[in-house]
Parts: sequence; C-alpha cells; structure tokens
Amino acid sequence: MIDRLETSFRQIRQFSSDASHELRTPLTVMKGETELALRRPRETDDYKVVLESNLEEIDRMTRIVDELLFLSRADMGEVKMEHLPVPLDTLVEDLHRQASLLGQERDIQVVLRTTAPAVVLGDELRLRELFLNLLDNAVKYSHPGGTVDIALTIEQTHARVSVTDHGIGIAQEDQSRIFDRFYRTDDARAHTKKGTGLGLSICAWIVESHRGRIEVQSKVGEGSTFTVMLPLAPPHRLNNF
Ligand SMILES: Nc1ncnc2c1ncn2[C@@H]1O[C@H](COP(=O)(O)OP(=O)(O)OP(=O)(O)O)[C@@H](O)[C@H]1O
Ligand SMILES: [Mg+2]
Repeated sequence: MIDRLETSFRQIRQFSSDASHELRTPLTVMKGETELALRRPRETDDYKVVLESNLEEIDRMTRIVDELLFLSRADMGEVKMEHLPVPLDTLVEDLHRQASLLGQERDIQVVLRTTAPAVVLGDELRLRELFLNLLDNAVKYSHPGGTVDIALTIEQTHARVSVTDHGIGIAQEDQSRIFDRFYRTDDARAHTKKGTGLGLSICAWIVESHRGRIEVQSKVGEGSTFTVMLPLAPPHRLNNF
C-alpha cells in the first residue's frame, strides 16, 4: 500500500515537473525575443516578426493546456463519449485522404492497403482523433520519400486498424513508455522539435474507453506499426443503421 502511494506520488511529481518544463520552454522563447526587440527602437517589420513568433509559441502553449485539460477531465470521468454505430471503413477512407495531404508536405505517400466493411460502437470524433494522432506520428517520424500504410481488417469479433511507417522506429525499452504523458524518445527529439508527447496518451485513453487495445511493434531504424483492435458492434445494434 505504502509502495503504491510512493509510486503514485512519484508519478505526480514527475508529471508536474514535465508539464512545467513543457510550458516553460515557449515562455522562455517569448521572453527572450520580446526583451531583445525592446532593447532599441526597430522597424515595424521587425516587431511583426517577433509578434508572429510569439503567436506561434502561444498556439503551442494553448495546445498543451487544452490537451492537459482534456486528459484531466478524462481522468475524472467527465468526458462525454457517444456510443453509436460508426462505419470504420468510411472513416478510414476519409482519414486516408486527410493523411495524404499531411504526407504531401513531407513527400510521404500514404497508402490504404486493405479495407473491409466494419462497424464499431463508439464516438466518431474521438475515433477520428485517435487515428489522426497515429497517422500524424507515422508521417512525422518517417523520412522524406517514405510510405505510410493503413490497413483495416476484420478478426472474428474485432476490427483491426494498423498504421505502418518505415521511419526512425522505437527501441524495445521505450515501447512501454511512449504512452506516458510527455514521454518522447531521444531519437524523436533529434528528428523533430514538433511534439509534446501527449498524443499517444490521448490515443490510449480513447482506445480504452472503446474497450479496445493498442499495440506497437517497432525496430529502431526500420519503422513502426501501431495496431488498434476495436470490438465490432453486435448485430442487434445494426438494425435500422
Ligand atoms: N511512428 C512513430 N515512429 C517513431 N516514434 C514514434 C512513433 N509514434 C510515436 N513515437 C514515439 O512516441 C513518442 C510519443 O508519441 P506522442 O504522439 O505521444 O508524442 P509526439 O508525437 O512527440 O507529440 P504530440 O503527439 O503531443 O504532438 C514520440 O515522441 C516518439 O518518441
Ligand atoms: Mg504525436
């Protein structure tokens, strides 16, 4: 019991320190740039550059705070979830179009390999957010010129959606930690500054609240596959659908 309390206090301390650090970085950038701009009179265009950069940092902080608020509301059971039939095949086709646009910016081709008619019970907006987070990661952690594959298949009572990339990969010892809030691997940090390490914690929560499972298979330098298993809607819920 004491051990468990110790662990949970340690996790809270770690979380507060990570959260403060993530918010401190954009604040430091804004403070530095603003002080520099104020040191002597400047042209209007110079002020514009500083204000634009500040706006970027404000957007970044707003995203972090929104995501943290979402996660803490989720922890307290305050997030409302729909429980309606969602046709996953239509959703996946739509996400494929969206992810292809994301990919274009980095010269990455997003391919829908297989799809199958599948209906699950859940919240379409949250499911969209879940798969977009996975696709965003796959594109972000790929190398330019690479491909990202999406596949939707049926396995007895479950729908299986997988997102595969051929990017930087994740070491075995990191694979259980990437779902922790704010956890980013050193490889990911070296690859891109973009990211706070909250996306997968939100994915894990969405999957859990759909009574599903999420798994990762990965090798450093070769790529990663994230697989989501979601229970299919029972046939009686499909009447009138
Ligand atoms: N497809 C992937 N390839 C390699 N590493 C990945 C992949 N997806 C996730 N990771 C690792 O898991 C970490 C956590 O992912 P997560 O989506 O939570 O954070 P992020 O993408 O860094 O930031 P955010 O999603 O909050 O913008 C990443 O920082 C990275 O280290
Ligand atoms: Mg992410």
